[in-house]
Amino acid sequence: MKTTAIVTGGSRGIGLAIALELGRHGYEIAIVATRTEESYPDSVSALREAGIDYAWYAADIGDSAQRQAVLQEIFANHTHIGVLVNNAGVAPRQRADLLEMTEESYDYVMNTNTKANMFITQAVAKHMMKNPPSQKKRGTIINISSCSATVSSVNRGEYCVSKAGIAMLTTLYADRLAAEGIFVYEIRPGVIRTDMTSTVESKYDALIAEGVFPIARWGEAEDVAKAVRAYCSDDFNYSTGNYIDVDGGFHIRRL
Ligand SMILES: NC(=O)c1ccc[n+]([C@@H]2O[C@H](COP(=O)([O-])OP(=O)(O)OC[C@H]3O[C@@H](n4cnc5c(N)ncnc54)[C@H](OP(=O)(O)O)[C@@H]3O)[C@@H](O)[C@H]2O)c1
Repeated sequence: MKTTAIVTGGSRGIGLAIALELGRHGYEIAIVATRTEESYPDSVSALREAGIDYAWYAADIGDSAQRQAVLQEIFANHTHIGVLVNNAGVAPRQRADLLEMTEESYDYVMNTNTKANMFITQAVAKHMMKNPPSQKKRGTIINISSCSATVSSVNRGEYCVSKAGIAMLTTLYADRLAAEGIFVYEIRPGVIRTDMTSTVESKYDALIAEGVFPIARWGEAEDVAKAVRAYCSDDFNYSTGNYIDVDGGFHIRRL
Protein backbone atom coordinates (compact mmCIF):
# COMPACT_ATOMS: atom_id res chain seq x y z
CA MET A 1 0.00 0.00 0.00
CA LYS A 2 1.40 3.37 -1.03
CA THR A 3 1.65 6.25 1.41
CA THR A 4 -0.10 9.41 0.26
CA ALA A 5 1.52 12.82 0.51
CA ILE A 6 -0.85 15.78 0.32
CA VAL A 7 0.88 18.74 -1.36
CA THR A 8 -1.08 21.99 -1.30
CA GLY A 9 -0.13 24.28 -4.17
CA GLY A 10 1.30 21.31 -6.06
CA SER A 11 0.18 22.67 -9.41
CA ARG A 12 3.33 24.67 -10.14
CA GLY A 13 6.48 26.21 -8.70
CA ILE A 14 7.84 24.81 -5.46
CA GLY A 15 4.78 22.62 -4.88
CA LEU A 16 5.11 20.91 -8.26
CA ALA A 17 8.79 20.22 -7.57
CA ILE A 18 7.80 18.70 -4.21
CA ALA A 19 5.13 16.56 -5.88
CA LEU A 20 7.68 15.31 -8.42
CA GLU A 21 10.37 14.65 -5.80
CA LEU A 22 8.09 12.76 -3.40
CA GLY A 23 6.37 10.97 -6.30
CA ARG A 24 9.73 9.73 -7.58
CA HIS A 25 10.40 8.42 -4.09
CA GLY A 26 7.31 6.23 -4.07
CA TYR A 27 4.60 8.42 -2.57
CA GLU A 28 1.15 8.74 -4.09
CA ILE A 29 0.56 12.48 -4.40
CA ALA A 30 -2.66 14.36 -3.66
CA ILE A 31 -2.28 17.79 -5.23
CA VAL A 32 -4.51 20.65 -4.12
CA ALA A 33 -4.68 23.81 -6.24
CA THR A 34 -7.29 26.43 -7.05
CA ARG A 35 -8.03 25.12 -10.55
CA THR A 36 -8.47 21.70 -12.17
CA GLU A 37 -5.57 19.94 -13.87
CA GLU A 38 -6.80 20.95 -17.36
CA SER A 39 -5.49 24.44 -16.52
CA TYR A 40 -1.93 23.16 -16.06
CA PRO A 41 -0.94 21.12 -19.16
CA ASP A 42 2.82 21.58 -18.58
CA SER A 43 2.62 20.43 -14.98
CA VAL A 44 0.47 17.44 -15.90
CA SER A 45 2.99 16.47 -18.63
CA ALA A 46 5.85 16.66 -16.13
CA LEU A 47 3.97 14.48 -13.63
CA ARG A 48 3.01 11.93 -16.29
CA GLU A 49 6.48 11.81 -17.86
CA ALA A 50 7.97 11.13 -14.43
CA GLY A 51 5.42 8.34 -13.89
CA ILE A 52 4.02 9.99 -10.77
CA ASP A 53 0.96 8.41 -9.19
CA TYR A 54 -1.14 11.49 -8.46
CA ALA A 55 -4.68 12.69 -7.87
CA TRP A 56 -5.65 16.31 -8.41
CA TYR A 57 -8.10 18.26 -6.26
CA ALA A 58 -9.33 21.77 -7.10
CA ALA A 59 -10.24 23.96 -4.13
CA ASP A 60 -9.57 27.39 -2.70
CA ILE A 61 -7.99 26.52 0.65
CA GLY A 62 -8.58 30.08 1.84
CA ASP A 63 -12.31 29.32 1.83
CA SER A 64 -13.36 27.35 4.90
CA ALA A 65 -16.16 25.36 3.23
CA GLN A 66 -14.02 24.41 0.22
CA ARG A 67 -11.12 23.50 2.48
CA GLN A 68 -13.23 21.16 4.60
CA ALA A 69 -14.90 19.59 1.56
CA VAL A 70 -11.64 18.87 -0.25
CA LEU A 71 -10.11 17.30 2.84
CA GLN A 72 -13.12 14.99 3.26
CA GLU A 73 -12.74 13.97 -0.39
CA ILE A 74 -9.03 13.26 0.07
CA PHE A 75 -9.66 11.27 3.28
CA ALA A 76 -12.28 9.19 1.45
CA ASN A 77 -10.02 8.46 -1.54
CA HIS A 78 -6.65 7.72 0.09
CA THR A 79 -6.11 4.89 2.54
CA HIS A 80 -2.87 5.91 4.21
CA ILE A 81 -2.00 9.60 4.43
CA GLY A 82 1.51 9.84 5.87
CA VAL A 83 2.70 13.24 4.71
CA LEU A 84 1.20 16.71 4.53
CA VAL A 85 3.11 19.53 2.86
CA ASN A 86 1.47 22.91 3.50
CA ASN A 87 3.02 24.73 0.56
CA ALA A 88 0.23 26.78 -1.06
CA GLY A 89 0.76 30.46 -0.50
CA VAL A 90 0.24 33.88 -1.98
CA ALA A 91 2.01 37.19 -2.00
CA PRO A 92 -0.09 40.36 -1.66
CA ARG A 93 -1.80 41.17 -4.97
CA GLN A 94 -0.09 44.55 -4.76
CA ARG A 95 2.95 45.43 -2.74
CA ALA A 96 2.15 48.46 -0.60
CA ASP A 97 3.95 50.26 2.20
CA LEU A 98 2.97 49.08 5.66
CA LEU A 99 1.21 52.38 6.30
CA GLU A 100 -0.97 51.86 3.21
CA MET A 101 -1.68 48.13 3.62
CA THR A 102 -5.40 47.35 3.40
CA GLU A 103 -7.39 45.02 5.64
CA GLU A 104 -8.57 43.23 2.51
CA SER A 105 -5.00 42.39 1.51
CA TYR A 106 -4.16 41.35 5.07
CA ASP A 107 -7.16 38.99 5.23
CA TYR A 108 -6.42 37.52 1.79
CA VAL A 109 -2.79 36.72 2.62
CA MET A 110 -3.41 35.54 6.18
CA ASN A 111 -6.38 33.36 5.16
CA THR A 112 -4.45 31.58 2.43
CA ASN A 113 -1.03 31.33 4.01
CA THR A 114 -1.68 30.95 7.73
CA LYS A 115 -5.29 30.17 8.57
CA ALA A 116 -5.50 27.46 5.91
CA ASN A 117 -2.22 25.96 7.14
CA MET A 118 -3.52 25.95 10.73
CA PHE A 119 -6.80 24.20 9.97
CA ILE A 120 -5.56 21.82 7.27
CA THR A 121 -2.91 20.67 9.74
CA GLN A 122 -5.54 20.26 12.46
CA ALA A 123 -7.77 18.07 10.26
CA VAL A 124 -4.97 16.02 8.71
CA ALA A 125 -3.26 15.46 12.06
CA LYS A 126 -6.48 14.02 13.51
CA HIS A 127 -6.72 11.75 10.47
CA MET A 128 -3.05 10.69 10.74
CA MET A 129 -3.57 9.78 14.40
CA LYS A 130 -5.54 6.77 13.16
CA ASN A 131 -2.46 5.49 11.25
CA PRO A 132 -0.53 2.59 12.79
CA PRO A 133 2.89 3.80 13.97
CA SER A 134 5.79 2.86 11.71
CA GLN A 135 9.22 3.19 13.31
CA LYS A 136 7.44 5.18 16.05
CA LYS A 137 6.28 7.71 13.44
CA ARG A 138 2.67 8.12 12.25
CA GLY A 139 3.09 11.06 9.96
CA THR A 140 5.19 14.00 8.81
CA ILE A 141 3.89 17.54 8.38
CA ILE A 142 6.04 20.12 6.62
CA ASN A 143 5.17 23.79 6.41
CA ILE A 144 6.72 25.95 3.71
CA SER A 145 7.12 29.34 5.32
CA SER A 146 9.80 31.77 4.10
CA CYS A 147 12.85 33.75 5.10
CA SER A 148 10.13 36.42 5.54
CA ALA A 149 9.19 34.70 8.81
CA THR A 150 12.01 36.77 10.31
CA VAL A 151 13.16 39.23 7.60
CA SER A 152 11.31 42.55 7.39
CA SER A 153 9.91 43.74 4.04
CA VAL A 154 7.85 46.81 4.80
CA ASN A 155 6.19 46.75 1.38
CA ARG A 156 4.56 43.34 2.05
CA GLY A 157 4.14 43.26 5.79
CA GLU A 158 1.08 41.00 5.66
CA TYR A 159 3.19 38.33 3.92
CA CYS A 160 5.88 38.55 6.64
CA VAL A 161 3.26 38.28 9.40
CA SER A 162 1.66 35.31 7.65
CA LYS A 163 4.99 33.47 7.50
CA ALA A 164 5.93 34.34 11.10
CA GLY A 165 2.57 32.82 12.04
CA ILE A 166 3.53 29.62 10.24
CA ALA A 167 6.73 29.45 12.28
CA MET A 168 4.71 29.52 15.52
CA LEU A 169 2.06 27.09 14.34
CA THR A 170 4.88 24.71 13.41
CA THR A 171 6.17 24.94 16.98
CA LEU A 172 2.69 24.47 18.43
CA TYR A 173 1.79 21.44 16.34
CA ALA A 174 5.24 19.90 16.83
CA ASP A 175 4.68 20.14 20.58
CA ARG A 176 1.09 18.88 20.50
CA LEU A 177 1.65 16.03 18.05
CA ALA A 178 5.01 14.60 19.17
CA ALA A 179 3.36 12.15 21.55
CA GLU A 180 1.10 11.06 18.70
CA GLY A 181 4.11 10.13 16.56
CA ILE A 182 3.50 12.98 14.10
CA PHE A 183 6.52 15.18 13.51
CA VAL A 184 6.21 18.74 12.24
CA TYR A 185 8.86 20.79 10.45
CA GLU A 186 9.22 24.09 8.67
CA ILE A 187 11.23 25.05 5.60
CA ARG A 188 12.18 28.67 5.05
CA PRO A 189 12.98 29.28 1.38
CA GLY A 190 14.85 32.40 0.38
CA VAL A 191 14.56 33.66 -3.19
CA ILE A 192 13.34 30.81 -5.39
CA ARG A 193 12.76 31.06 -9.14
CA THR A 194 8.97 30.60 -9.61
CA ASP A 195 5.94 32.54 -10.84
CA MET A 196 5.80 34.26 -7.44
CA THR A 197 9.19 35.92 -7.93
CA SER A 198 8.94 36.45 -11.70
CA THR A 199 7.51 39.95 -11.23
CA VAL A 200 10.55 41.03 -9.19
CA GLU A 201 13.19 39.11 -11.15
CA SER A 202 15.41 42.10 -11.94
CA LYS A 203 15.41 43.22 -8.29
CA TYR A 204 16.64 39.79 -7.16
CA ASP A 205 19.11 39.50 -10.07
CA ALA A 206 20.70 42.71 -8.78
CA LEU A 207 20.76 41.54 -5.15
CA ILE A 208 22.41 38.26 -6.18
CA ALA A 209 25.01 40.17 -8.21
CA GLU A 210 25.68 42.44 -5.20
CA GLY A 211 26.50 39.37 -3.07
CA VAL A 212 23.53 39.60 -0.68
CA PHE A 213 23.21 35.81 -0.82
CA PRO A 214 26.38 33.92 0.23
CA ILE A 215 25.57 31.20 -2.33
CA ALA A 216 25.28 33.63 -5.22
CA ARG A 217 22.53 32.16 -7.37
CA TRP A 218 18.75 31.91 -7.59
CA GLY A 219 17.27 29.12 -5.51
CA GLU A 220 15.42 26.53 -7.54
CA ALA A 221 12.18 24.81 -6.60
CA GLU A 222 14.09 21.52 -6.53
CA ASP A 223 16.33 22.86 -3.74
CA VAL A 224 13.24 23.13 -1.53
CA ALA A 225 11.80 19.82 -2.72
CA LYS A 226 14.94 17.93 -1.70
CA ALA A 227 14.77 19.36 1.82
CA VAL A 228 11.12 18.26 2.02
CA ARG A 229 12.08 14.75 0.96
CA ALA A 230 14.82 14.64 3.60
CA TYR A 231 12.33 15.56 6.34
CA CYS A 232 9.95 12.85 5.09
CA SER A 233 12.62 10.16 5.44
CA ASP A 234 13.19 8.24 8.65
CA ASP A 235 16.46 10.12 9.21
CA PHE A 236 14.97 12.74 11.57
CA ASN A 237 12.94 10.55 13.89
CA TYR A 238 14.32 12.17 17.06
CA SER A 239 13.66 15.71 15.79
CA THR A 240 10.50 17.77 15.57
CA GLY A 241 9.69 21.47 15.48
CA ASN A 242 12.88 22.20 13.52
CA TYR A 243 13.32 24.35 10.47
CA ILE A 244 15.78 24.41 7.57
CA ASP A 245 16.72 27.60 5.73
CA VAL A 246 16.85 26.88 1.99
CA ASP A 247 18.11 30.35 1.19
CA GLY A 248 21.71 30.21 -0.03
CA GLY A 249 22.92 31.28 3.42
CA PHE A 250 20.85 34.49 3.37
CA HIS A 251 20.07 34.06 7.11
CA ILE A 252 23.74 34.50 8.06
CA ARG A 253 24.30 37.87 9.74
CA ARG A 254 27.42 39.64 8.57
CA LEU A 255 29.63 42.34 9.97
N1 LIG B 1 9.25 31.68 -4.67
C1 LIG B 1 9.89 32.12 -3.61
O1 LIG B 1 10.93 32.84 -3.70
C2 LIG B 1 9.42 31.77 -2.22
C3 LIG B 1 10.23 32.16 -1.15
C4 LIG B 1 9.84 31.84 0.13
C5 LIG B 1 8.67 31.16 0.35
N2 LIG B 1 7.87 30.79 -0.71
C6 LIG B 1 6.64 30.08 -0.41
O2 LIG B 1 6.63 28.83 -1.07
C7 LIG B 1 5.30 28.46 -1.38
C8 LIG B 1 5.20 28.17 -2.88
O3 LIG B 1 5.60 29.35 -3.57
P1 LIG B 1 5.82 29.40 -5.13
O4 LIG B 1 6.90 30.38 -5.36
O5 LIG B 1 5.90 28.03 -5.71
O6 LIG B 1 4.44 30.10 -5.55
P2 LIG B 1 3.60 30.09 -6.91
O7 LIG B 1 4.47 29.70 -8.04
O8 LIG B 1 2.89 31.39 -6.94
O9 LIG B 1 2.55 28.90 -6.64
C9 LIG B 1 1.65 29.02 -5.58
C10 LIG B 1 0.90 27.73 -5.43
O10 LIG B 1 -0.05 27.88 -4.35
C11 LIG B 1 -1.34 27.57 -4.84
N3 LIG B 1 -2.36 28.37 -4.18
C12 LIG B 1 -2.33 29.71 -3.96
N4 LIG B 1 -3.46 30.09 -3.36
C13 LIG B 1 -4.21 28.98 -3.19
C14 LIG B 1 -5.48 28.74 -2.64
N5 LIG B 1 -6.22 29.72 -2.11
N6 LIG B 1 -5.97 27.48 -2.66
C15 LIG B 1 -5.23 26.47 -3.19
N7 LIG B 1 -4.01 26.63 -3.72
C16 LIG B 1 -3.51 27.88 -3.72
C17 LIG B 1 -1.28 27.89 -6.31
O11 LIG B 1 -2.32 27.23 -6.96
P3 LIG B 1 -2.89 27.78 -8.37
O12 LIG B 1 -1.90 27.35 -9.38
O13 LIG B 1 -4.18 27.12 -8.53
O14 LIG B 1 -2.98 29.27 -8.25
C18 LIG B 1 0.11 27.38 -6.67
O15 LIG B 1 0.09 25.98 -6.80
C19 LIG B 1 4.42 29.63 -0.94
O16 LIG B 1 3.90 29.36 0.34
C20 LIG B 1 5.39 30.79 -0.87
O17 LIG B 1 4.99 31.78 0.04
C21 LIG B 1 8.24 31.09 -1.99
